[in-house]
Amino acid sequence: MTRIAIFASGSGSNAENIVNYFKENDNVTISLILTNKANAYVLERAKKLNIEALVFNKTQFLETDEITRFLAKKNINMIVLAGFLLKMPENLIKSFPDKIINIHPALLPKYGGKGMYGDNVHKAVVENKETESGITIHYVNENYDEGKIIFQAKCEVSSTDSYEDVAAKIHELEYEHFPKAIDSLIRK
Ligand code: GRF
Repeated sequence: MTRIAIFASGSGSNAENIVNYFKENDNVTISLILTNKANAYVLERAKKLNIEALVFNKTQFLETDEITRFLAKKNINMIVLAGFLLKMPENLIKSFPDKIINIHPALLPKYGGKGMYGDNVHKAVVENKETESGITIHYVNENYDEGKIIFQAKCEVSSTDSYEDVAAKIHELEYEHFPKAIDSLIRK
């Protein structure tokens, strides 16, 4: 049985999409949703989806192994970051080698790194007059957005696209591909 913990800092639409994708799957369960933001909308989604949620603070996460111990107690064996804005601490990465994956709303290595999240990414893509963007699903290491790439998908960016238009295209790619990428990793 694969027991997944999803980390999210914001709305959690990807988290909900992943939960729904695996709902009928007897071999995969989304056991936990965790967030560093007490007011994150992902907590409303967890309640609606009847999934255990945990709110933690930055100090707990970055300076203790409390979260790692909690995940071990819950027998988690895969971690999915879906809009989670903190860097993963070493103790967590060491406890889950090659078991932590993230989705980034751009074609890494472009538009990655500290500060490159959410609409900041799409604004930079539009400002630089890119003709394409996309998503990157990758393993997580101790640096932002630098782990081994697992999957990428592209979308066109037209000269008339606003950053909101790009965001909408990116979200469509995320909802289509993220759960399938997780599923194919589990089936490996
Ligand atoms: C997504 O665009 C994802 O690529 C990025 O953060 C956003 C999360 O959106 N990492 P949501 O919270 O899943 O709606």
